Amino acid sequence: MSTCDIGVYGLAVMGQNLALNLADHDNRVAVYNRTEAKTREFVDQKVDGKPVEAAYELDAFVGLLKKPRVILLMLKAGGVLDTVIDQLLPHLEAGDIIMDGGNSHFTDTERRAEMLAARNIHYIGLGVSGGEEGARHGPSLMPGGTQEAYARVQAMLEAVAAEAEGEPCVTYLGPRGSGHYVKMVHNGIEYAIMQAIAEIYDVLKRAAGMSPAQMSDVFRRWNEGPLSSFLVEITANVLAYVEPETGQALVDLILDRAQQKGTGKWTTQDALDLGVPVPTISTAVDARIISALKAERQHAASILQGPSPRPDGAQDQLVQDLEGALLATEICAYAQGFVAMRAASAEYNYNLNMADIAHIWRNGCIIRAAMLNEMRQAFGENNDLPNLMIAPHFASVLAARQTAWRNVVGLAVQSGIPTPSLSSALAYYDSYRTARLPANLIQAQRDYFGAHTYERIDKAGEFHTEWQGN
Ligand code: 6PG
Repeated sequence: MSTCDIGVYGLAVMGQNLALNLADHDNRVAVYNRTEAKTREFVDQKVDGKPVEAAYELDAFVGLLKKPRVILLMLKAGGVLDTVIDQLLPHLEAGDIIMDGGNSHFTDTERRAEMLAARNIHYIGLGVSGGEEGARHGPSLMPGGTQEAYARVQAMLEAVAAEAEGEPCVTYLGPRGSGHYVKMVHNGIEYAIMQAIAEIYDVLKRAAGMSPAQMSDVFRRWNEGPLSSFLVEITANVLAYVEPETGQALVDLILDRAQQKGTGKWTTQDALDLGVPVPTISTAVDARIISALKAERQHAASILQGPSPRPDGAQDQLVQDLEGALLATEICAYAQGFVAMRAASAEYNYNLNMADIAHIWRNGCIIRAAMLNEMRQAFGENNDLPNLMIAPHFASVLAARQTAWRNVVGLAVQSGIPTPSLSSALAYYDSYRTARLPANLIQAQRDYFGAHTYERIDKAGEFHTEWQGN
């Protein structure tokens, strides 16, 4: 009876694919879904002789598991997790492990881990990235929980994870909600890179007058160089896709209204709470929100004035500049994400190892990219690096691209093409490298209207001035 190594609860596509992936790697897998029909469909259509056992009642599902039990919840983040955990609890014993493979908010994971720890049940918040393909053939996995619990599932997770140069893209990250924190930041970076790519596409389309097929070639070429990454690769594929029914590039027929489930917003929210600027991530969240205001934008298009982009012929130089601008913006997005994780690590005692995070993002996940190799190296040399941009490799990449970056932002501004992420990243770079910012004036203003005091550069202490008496 109790012969299964792990139970997967939740058979939406991610759960199904992880169950199959686990079964492909010497695990007997029990599966359960709230709606029975889904389980039957999965067993009939997908299991195909693999060591998967279905259960149709919760107690039967738990009964299939070897003790101490390991249960992987693959559910939509939110209150349903609490309900399911409550339902499972009466069937569980001390020492059992529950893993949450969804995109739960890290504070929910903290709360659940604490509640379950009081019952001697381990809770692992498991960030899973890579979409359907990743889940089936090798995701990047970001586990947080007790070391004891991780040791029990380590071999299993290593077997199903993606690999980068022979090493599995999973490692113990830290206690409690740390795995979900890292996954949340992963998604924030994902939003930023996707937005930057979308802006580059807009400039290629409206300032260079390129067709989707031509743009696809550009992205494909970039994917051979320093921009080599999953998101650049799929962009090339998306742009090349011609819909058979219409004979048109499908991308041109898709409504320009981006949706979101909230992980990018959470990254920004927590970063702000920690006092960490993540402008390129925040801008990407804002850009999705503005995109959703389709009707308002259509109305405003007939009221608000601006230049109309006019493609000029100089494509080669522009394409070269755009490559530099995208690379620099991506570096800023990763840099901001790593700063947020560094602050979170200190604030929440996660003890995160940044080189490990760069390593497990090298394959399997949505933000996998060649440049993560250099990030791993940079953080391997100094885990407390205050900002990735000042690591010698990245400082020199940014130095070599900054003129191109400025050209692109300048052209976009002149042409009236919105490039919020490219511009915000450039402003971040310029702010960070500016030894004296104009914040002295802000301090003076605060002191003027509210006697908030200011510090001086020429003597220590806090000062107030009666400004109006001058
Ligand atoms: C991943 C992704 C995934 C996320 C989607 C959609 O790492 O596999 O981050 O977890 O759910 O990308 O996110 P949005 O709906 O918020 O765009």
